[in-house]
Amino acid sequence: MHCDASRRTFECAPSLSDTEVLRFCREGYLHFEGVVPDEINRRTCAWLNGEIPVNPCYLPDGMTNEELVRIRDTHEPSSILLEDWFIEHVLLNPVLAGALRSLLGRHVGLPVLVSNHRIECPKESQPWHHDADHVFGPEVNFVEVFYFPQDTPDEMGPTEVTPGSHIRNTRRTQEERGVLCSGPAGTIGLHSQSILHRRGESTASGLRHMLKFSYWRTVPPARDWITEPEFDFRHADYGGHGLARYVAHMFYWLCGKGDEFRLIGGQAWPWKSVNQIGPSHGFGHTEGYLPDWRGNSDDDYAR
Ligand SMILES: [Fe+2]
Repeated sequence: MHCDASRRTFECAPSLSDTEVLRFCREGYLHFEGVVPDEINRRTCAWLNGEIPVNPCYLPDGMTNEELVRIRDTHEPSSILLEDWFIEHVLLNPVLAGALRSLLGRHVGLPVLVSNHRIECPKESQPWHHDADHVFGPEVNFVEVFYFPQDTPDEMGPTEVTPGSHIRNTRRTQEERGVLCSGPAGTIGLHSQSILHRRGESTASGLRHMLKFSYWRTVPPARDWITEPEFDFRHADYGGHGLARYVAHMFYWLCGKGDEFRLIGGQAWPWKSVNQIGPSHGFGHTEGYLPDWRGNSDDDYAR
């Protein structure tokens, strides 16, 4: 692990394989249960509750200690990004960092803003929503991370996501369920900022903190995560109708091959069925269509 404090970037070995990167493209999220040590989880809660002093490892240009104390008491307590224990064990958590390095390339840009979604349970679920300012597209220029510093079982209203909904505008009724990203204290989730999500319903009692922050790409995409010798772009699982074309486009973009990506439509690659007797046609075409990420065409193809 190498952290460049002046550029606010880090560098480490990637930890995700081709199959895992493709799974992120297909589902739009990853989930790591209980990866932050308990002592750090407790210290995070104490810091957020104002029980221990603000102690930045440096003062950013133009900021004062008083300013950092003021920020700590807002819904965006970003001064925590300057605590050395938080940097080492949360921001640069080895499990999280390896995944971020896989998805965002070398010299990953560190967060500059934190939101604290602090609620007093029990509480009804939030409406399903895509976050403000999301962009649908094949690019993975940043990912959003959330961290639960206290035990967050289903009863404490963890984040609930709809897998695969980072591709396009998705509507769900409140009764429809998603996947709850629950876990013990120290659980971290990582997702596309475009994914449909909500705070799940909580039925237990108590204070729940959830810190949310984004990491940033600083280099062009390249397939420099853990490559699998047997991984086959032609036969990989990109998902079903209406999904596979988008997932494959995102995966190709991440591989640095977004410009080469073309589709011919129908039952052609990247779609496939377990009941077909040979590989799908249409793989490797240099002419064809791109998925319509903005949803402006009737057939879902951009050009
Ligand atoms: Fe949200």
